[in-house]
Amino acid sequence: MYSEKVMEHFSNPRNVGEIEDADGVGTVGNPVCGDLMTIYIKVKDNRIEDIKFKTFGCGAAIATSSMVTEMAMGKTIEEALEITRNDVANELEGLPPVKMHCSNLAADALHAAIEDYKKKLAEKET
Ligand code: FES
Repeated sequence: MYSEKVMEHFSNPRNVGEIEDADGVGTVGNPVCGDLMTIYIKVKDNRIEDIKFKTFGCGAAIATSSMVTEMAMGKTIEEALEITRNDVANELEGLPPVKMHCSNLAADALHAAIEDYKKKLAEKET
């Protein structure tokens, strides 16, 4: 049912945790299953220099959070914003159709964290 890559990220998730002085935090939830995902980013010179996640959710949600943090690490804000829901699922070599919404959560949480970062930046500049 799951690709080897999904199983691998689920068993050995990368970048788990919290960044206390994060520059951006994004939390999204899925009202259907009740799962919740938070992504924290630390940004330096417009680049994501650190990223961590906390996920209360199913195995696929944990695997996709882990994958999205690896994909976004080191990227510029603009590049990270281009990571789509599909990219995450593709990088994991696909997800069962009933689990596609779990990968949506990961891309959405990343985008929410970036929006939060941009908002804070704009507030600082005014
Ligand atoms: Fe809810 Fe996967 S079942 S995120």
